[in-house]
Amino acid sequence: MRRPIVAGNWKMNGTQSEAAALIEGIRSGLADVKNAEVVVCPPFTLISLVAAALDGSGISYGAQNLNVYDAGAYTGEVSGPMLRDLGCTYVIVGHSERRALYGESDDVVAEKFRAAQQHGLVPILCVGETLEQRVDNDTETVIARQLDAVVDTVGIEAFGQAVIAYEPVWAIGTGMTATPEQAQAVHQFIRDKLAALDGAIADGLRLQYGGSVKGANAQGLFGQPDIDGGLIGGASLHAEEFLNVCRAG
Ligand code: PGA
Repeated sequence: MRRPIVAGNWKMNGTQSEAAALIEGIRSGLADVKNAEVVVCPPFTLISLVAAALDGSGISYGAQNLNVYDAGAYTGEVSGPMLRDLGCTYVIVGHSERRALYGESDDVVAEKFRAAQQHGLVPILCVGETLEQRVDNDTETVIARQLDAVVDTVGIEAFGQAVIAYEPVWAIGTGMTATPEQAQAVHQFIRDKLAALDGAIADGLRLQYGGSVKGANAQGLFGQPDIDGGLIGGASLHAEEFLNVCRAG
């Protein structure tokens, strides 16, 4: 059985006091989150504070990005060893905002995936199509290309220590969630594609859905056979809303 995983992607949001209040709010409602593994991914500046605030809670934490290199003259960047040093378990790689706004290619994303695992971090690999690509019936081609780049770089075995988040770009931050059936179809495509390479790894791999998930729609999505929790943006910034999503896991 795959344990659902609900991860909050805070994006570029939060001061220290806001983060402290958010973690306190999440902790106070955790008792009735029965099933899901709960993860928060704050901005780099808040990781230490969040780590301390989460102590003993059972909630994991991670980062939203990493550099492919370990150290050196890369002004403004943060590396895998630094995240490991902060006790991160997870790191998001290939989020569509990084692909679109910072020019991260499939190959760069694959190298980030590799760098994460080299330092004992579990990558949450984001894949997803734009609205134009969906309208053109290119969803599966796009997702296959995004997955192949990583599989070709690290091999299928590496997916034994990874999470994949399917995030249709048109659903991120728009309020336009994919229907449970639309999401399930792509999740099944991803799992089948990886199962062709290694059935056991595909079967154990947790596939999150992301894109305008909130308390009101989480249950329908997470109830699908190939959806194992979610990657949550906007709703993860509000303790009660995030908890409602976690409770649906
Ligand atoms: P959203 O973001 O929940 O605000 O749509 C999801 C994400 O970008 O991971």
